[in-house]
Amino acid sequence: MTKIKIAENGPILIEVNKAIIHKAGIVEEIPRKLIAHCRCGQSSNKPFCDGSHKSCGFSGELVEIEIQ
Ligand code: FES
Repeated sequence: MTKIKIAENGPILIEVNKAIIHKAGIVEEIPRKLIAHCRCGQSSNKPFCDGSHKSCGFSGELVEIEIQ
């Protein structure tokens, strides 16, 4: 399952609980992974969030999406 959460006043959080990738017939399992993408434009580690949204006054709405 994959969850996408657009945090209130913060980054886009993508959580993959367990992904299966098929490469030439091989099935691979990936452990839980959380990725935070910047949406305020102030991160010095783009495209990833570095916490700069907390000090730049960024505001944005919370949105949650779950993909089965
Ligand atoms: S959203 Fe966190 S640094 Fe931009």
